[in-house]
Amino acid sequence: MQIRVRSGGHDYEGLSYVSDVPFVLIDLINLRSISVDAENSTAWVQAAATIGEVYYRIAEKSRTLGFPGGIATTLGVGGHFSGGGYGTMLRKYGLAADNIIDAQLIDVKGRILDRKSMGEDLFWAIRGGGGGSFGIILAWKIKLVHVPSTVTVFTLSRNLEQNATKLVHRWQYVAAKLHEDLFIRVNLTSVNSSQEGKRTVQASFNSLYLGGIDKLLPMMQQSFPELGLMREDCIEKSWIEFVLYFEGFPSGESLNVLLNRTLLIGAPFKAKSDYVQEPIPELWFEGIWKRFSEREAESALILLTPYGGRMSEISESEIPFPHRAGAIYKIQYVVYWEEKETAASKRHISWIRRLYSYMAPYVSKSPRAAYVNYRDLDIGTNGKGNTSYRRASTWGNKYFKTNFDRLVHVKTLVDPANFFQNKQSIPPFSSGWKKRARVRCPEKALQELFLNLTLYCSLRHFLTPHPHICSSTHTKRPT
Ligand SMILES: Cc1cc2nc3c(=O)[nH]c(=O)nc-3n(C[C@H](O)[C@H](O)[C@H](O)COP(=O)(O)OP(=O)(O)OC[C@H]3O[C@@H](n4cnc5c(N)ncnc54)[C@H](O)[C@@H]3O)c2cc1C
Ligand SMILES: *[C@@H]1O[C@H](CO)[C@@H](O)[C@H](O)[C@H]1NC(C)=O
Ligand SMILES: *[C@@H]1O[C@H](CO)[C@@H](O)[C@H](O)[C@H]1NC(C)=O
Ligand SMILES: *[C@@H]1O[C@H](CO)[C@@H](O)[C@H](O)[C@H]1NC(C)=O
Ligand SMILES: *[C@@H]1O[C@H](CO)[C@@H](O)[C@H](O)[C@H]1NC(C)=O
Ligand SMILES: *[C@@H]1O[C@H](CO)[C@@H](O)[C@H](O)[C@H]1NC(C)=O
Ligand SMILES: *[C@@H]1O[C@H](CO)[C@@H](O)[C@H](O)[C@H]1NC(C)=O
Repeated sequence: MQIRVRSGGHDYEGLSYVSDVPFVLIDLINLRSISVDAENSTAWVQAAATIGEVYYRIAEKSRTLGFPGGIATTLGVGGHFSGGGYGTMLRKYGLAADNIIDAQLIDVKGRILDRKSMGEDLFWAIRGGGGGSFGIILAWKIKLVHVPSTVTVFTLSRNLEQNATKLVHRWQYVAAKLHEDLFIRVNLTSVNSSQEGKRTVQASFNSLYLGGIDKLLPMMQQSFPELGLMREDCIEKSWIEFVLYFEGFPSGESLNVLLNRTLLIGAPFKAKSDYVQEPIPELWFEGIWKRFSEREAESALILLTPYGGRMSEISESEIPFPHRAGAIYKIQYVVYWEEKETAASKRHISWIRRLYSYMAPYVSKSPRAAYVNYRDLDIGTNGKGNTSYRRASTWGNKYFKTNFDRLVHVKTLVDPANFFQNKQSIPPFSSGWKKRARVRCPEKALQELFLNLTLYCSLRHFLTPHPHICSSTHTKRPT
């Protein structure tokens, strides 16, 4: 049987609770304690605590401490931090995983390890290498970050008749270069136009500024005057009130909603992601708008999240999450639908795949990068049983770029029999190739063996238990 591990259950493809083969579900729901040490700006948080609970417990102790985690308050930290985890403070402090300083994990042998006893290779892999591959995270120790006592928020919406195209185009040149205290994301949706019966596209610019209105206004006037931000568009709040605002709770809502774990996504959805390295031409946006006018796009949205700031200072190999200096922003495409029939699912999924194809010329290439926390099985899956390195690298290189090789290496060291596996788990190096060699044509098997050996040898510098393999010739037939 396979193992499925669930913390918050938000995996986009349900990998924490769905399987084609018989499985055991390990649900961590009762491991939810959070202990905040405000004096030292750290906290221990158990795997199934939600990020909303984490924010709440921090705010209970201090209004000038926060954490750069995700926006949706019901995310479980077990999966969320395992894949990186970003939110509105990523330009100042990086990802959640960039701010993890220790962890407790159960390994395949049933041992409870911490950073010291697991070693730096495994500690590296679990901070961004995606959940479900290396063991079961019990708890994280995180470094809390400073937040000012007053932050400023605004949401400005412009539709196509209000120059939305020009503004979104311009945003691409500005957003990654703004001061790191300022985060402006764009939410594109299809909405009713003011003309009866017509649709238009709306761009909402949602922002967090880590400071007061008086500093924000001149900054916006200088960097992005086209948006026309006015004082009356801005609201000052505490950081914890901002968390509620950005999640869409009405103003004045009690902070207790952060403790509510019930996620309200009634409708099925499909999502995909991309990274953008150079601004997309204005004309290309017209093609996106055209796709937004299709029937399937009624409840679709595209979110543009700016990078830059701290994100581009951290090296691509610091943790497995590799999308750093090269990216000016990330795109997330999402389509929701209400209908239950398979035909409806097919139509909507086909719509988002067509949009994804359309975007290919202007997003990252070789590999076309994707964010592991926006799990997408379209980009490749493992085969049944033991998967080859080559097959897994089709999706692995997209999520992790060259860090994928080191993840495979760590997996080989800590879980060589591939006990923790799912459709997109990191495979151990060379698992199963002896068996395949017997059933497949010798040339194919030899090729695979050669590829595995080449990888194995190229990874030697990370720590290899069998250096002699690498000095023998690679052309011998497998036995
Ligand atoms: C509504 C919504 C909003 C989102 N917003 C954001 C956002 O703002 N920022 C962002 O970065 N991401 C966001 N995401 C994506 C989110 O980060 C991922 O879905 C994340 O994996 C969720 O973690 P989880 O514990 O809730 O999910 P789960 O489904 O429980 O787990 C996800 C994966 O991690 C594995 N896993 C879970 N727990 C453990 C554990 N304890 N040890 C080892 N492996 C484990 C699972 O097996 C699965 O493969 C959002 C997702 C949703 C549905
Ligand atoms: C802060 O850390 C120090 C050193 O690790 C420790 O002795 C102290 O107890 C911690 N403070 C709190 C409030 O736990
Ligand atoms: C749109 O932009 C033009 C100039 O590029 C400007 O004259 C016009 O006022 C803008 N319209 C709106 C609604 O902002
Ligand atoms: C995006 O904008 C739409 C329309 O204004 C809104 O319904 C939706 O909640 C927004 N989504 C996000 C994630 O901001
Ligand atoms: C948009 O328009 C359609 C019909 O023109 C109407 O049924 C729907 O309620 C409108 N939606 C909103 C949010 O106003
Ligand atoms: C928790 O949230 C859900 C969904 O929004 C809601 O239906 C439920 O009433 C809330 N529970 C409490 C105790 O507030
Ligand atoms: C996968 O590989 C491991 C280690 O080589 C082996 O123990 C296991 O039986 C293999 N599983 C399958 C399904 O081939």
